[in-house]
Amino acid sequence: MEHLLVSTSSDASYRSSTPCEFHCHLNRAWPITPPQDAGDGDLFRCIVDHGRNPFSIVWQGSPEYPDLSNFPALDRVEVFPLPLSPALAAIWRNSALLDYGSYASIRASEHSRFPILKLAHPDTQSLELIEHEFNILTDLQSLGLPVPEIDTQPIVDGGRICGYRMKALSKLKQYELHHRQHDIQRVLLRLHSAGFCNGDVTPSNIMKDGNDRIILIDFGFAGRVGSAVPPFIPNWVYASGIFEAEGDLKAFKRFIR
Ligand SMILES: Nc1ncnc2c1ncn2[C@@H]1O[C@H](COP(=O)(O)OP(=O)(O)OP(=O)(O)O)[C@@H](O)[C@H]1O
Ligand SMILES: [Mg+2]
Repeated sequence: MEHLLVSTSSDASYRSSTPCEFHCHLNRAWPITPPQDAGDGDLFRCIVDHGRNPFSIVWQGSPEYPDLSNFPALDRVEVFPLPLSPALAAIWRNSALLDYGSYASIRASEHSRFPILKLAHPDTQSLELIEHEFNILTDLQSLGLPVPEIDTQPIVDGGRICGYRMKALSKLKQYELHHRQHDIQRVLLRLHSAGFCNGDVTPSNIMKDGNDRIILIDFGFAGRVGSAVPPFIPNWVYASGIFEAEGDLKAFKRFIR
């Protein structure tokens, strides 16, 4: 498995390789979650996408992902299919892995208006975060702020929000981050003036739309400035336990330096 570092996001250092573009090779297996402690000393697990189906794999040793090139016939790795509801299985079948983070994966589909999906990983914290993110994005979208244009109908599974659909955006090149730093700062200040903070300002969470407008993404750690941070947001994000905007500006200044 090649090792191309694709993420500059603070908590995504585990991500060792880029998954794929929309036409990614169906026979190849890709991790879609970080390696997690499987609870027994040196046992680790993660979820893998193979042929647009999810599998849980468990291995022993170090947290580094095992070689997946012969998936599912792997040496000293246990492989378990992950059952999905028929509706979620259809969503997986009709989309391809684009990227993934600590709490969600991003998939690309051929949906005409909202081709990009963000799907929570199947654990309680990830589901809480995606529901929170969907609600915040709904508020921010209605305020006309530069955030992803989302489908107002979330993806629901078993009565619970597990994801949402949005319009496609483009990554900024390194030079654009510098070249457009004033636009980025303006967008952050607009968000703050509206009374919200993002909580995860990194280069990979700044994108642009088809009209070249700067768009902030990834609102799982976002909230209303001054209100209490819910327990599902990791407590290292806001040391005070209260949503505040200063962290966004500090993070922005750090990577723009
Ligand atoms: N609307 C979109 N169009 C195209 N690509 C997107 C879109 N939204 C997200 N992405 C891609 O997916 C990546 C991960 O998205 P996002 O940050 O929302 O997920 P995440 O799971 O919270 O990731 P992380 O934990 O690494 O921050 C983005 O950095 C971007 O490259
Ligand atoms: Mg992100």
